[in-house]
Amino acid sequence: MKKTVLLLFGGCSSEHDVSRVSAASVLRHLDREKYELYTVGITKDGAWRLCGADPDVIETGDWENGAVPAVLSPDRRDKALLILRDGGIETVRIDVAFPVLHGKNGEDGTVQGLFELAGIPYVGCGVLSSAMCMDKAVTNIMADAAGIPQAKWASFTEPEYRAGAVDLDAIADRLGYPIFVKPANAGSSVGITKAHDRDELERALDLAFRNDRKAVLEQTVVGREIECAVMGNDDPVAACVGEILPTAEFYDYDAKYNDDSTGLAIPADLPPAVTEAVRAAAVAVYRTMNCTGLARCDFFLGADGTVYLNEINTLPGFTSISMFPKLFGQAGVPYGELLDRLIAYAEERANGSF
Ligand SMILES: Nc1ncnc2c1ncn2[C@@H]1O[C@H](COP(=O)(O)OP(=O)(O)O)[C@@H](O)[C@H]1O
Ligand SMILES: [Mg+2]
Repeated sequence: MKKTVLLLFGGCSSEHDVSRVSAASVLRHLDREKYELYTVGITKDGAWRLCGADPDVIETGDWENGAVPAVLSPDRRDKALLILRDGGIETVRIDVAFPVLHGKNGEDGTVQGLFELAGIPYVGCGVLSSAMCMDKAVTNIMADAAGIPQAKWASFTEPEYRAGAVDLDAIADRLGYPIFVKPANAGSSVGITKAHDRDELERALDLAFRNDRKAVLEQTVVGREIECAVMGNDDPVAACVGEILPTAEFYDYDAKYNDDSTGLAIPADLPPAVTEAVRAAAVAVYRTMNCTGLARCDFFLGADGTVYLNEINTLPGFTSISMFPKLFGQAGVPYGELLDRLIAYAEERANGSF
């Protein structure tokens, strides 16, 4: 019997376009012999539409033509997608949902909450874990509590800042310029600035607050940028370690998606002991953040060999050139099998709870 998989893509997020490319790639690798696919795109303004599972059409953005309204029923007796067609409602029972969504409303626990209500197993981290990993201030608080090395940091909300309750110079003295300024919740480097002085810091905060009501400031870590993919539930496994070789001043949106010169080294050229230290750190972070299913843990490797946490992505990029599938590919798990395992983890985690 084929499993019925609901694949969600797009979404109300600054990473809508990236999600379409990830979803196209997932669709090219999902085994159609094993899975009956329903593909729902969420438009930038939040409409849910069932479309065909043709990756090319999803990738170009033409998927909305002929797509029909479809929503998830929160009634857990249904566990169903409701397709609104020809004035009637068609009900399709869903075995597993796969949110190929990045950033807000997809990677932050919101859609995960809907799956919980609906009683439908889903790929990836749960509500709390997704929300914690999405919020860079909460991630930093958790890492401090667990004793995981990271950059010195500060965080405050826009109302606190506008009310004059934040002593920027004191923070700058503690962190030292240049300072990374980020919206606490965003992704794909959107709204992030490397500020070199007080003037740039103020402009960087204005930009960050256009993306979120909370900002995170971080000391600049000088080091190599390395990433490790992890998957699993109770016994998570780390893939090999990759390195970002950027040519821009930092790994910004253009470097991620538009700049062909940004190189990835897979595996990273590291001594075996360092690789093992990074893999162990990735699993420790994964456990600390209560992750299940999958996550990509991003670090900086300092000149003294310290492994500093940068961030955790609970629905990392899944394009054919993305780090997550490539790291597991290098570790001997081909893309198609990786998807099979993620779907199996979703069912395993839900077992008995829905
Ligand atoms: N504290 C830091 N020190 C040095 N570089 C940083 C720091 N924080 C972020 N960066 C750079 O900015 C990029 C984007 O920041 P990141 O926190 O990963 O945000 P996003 O969630 O948007 O990917 C990183 O990949 C890295 O190149
Ligand atoms: Mg990042």
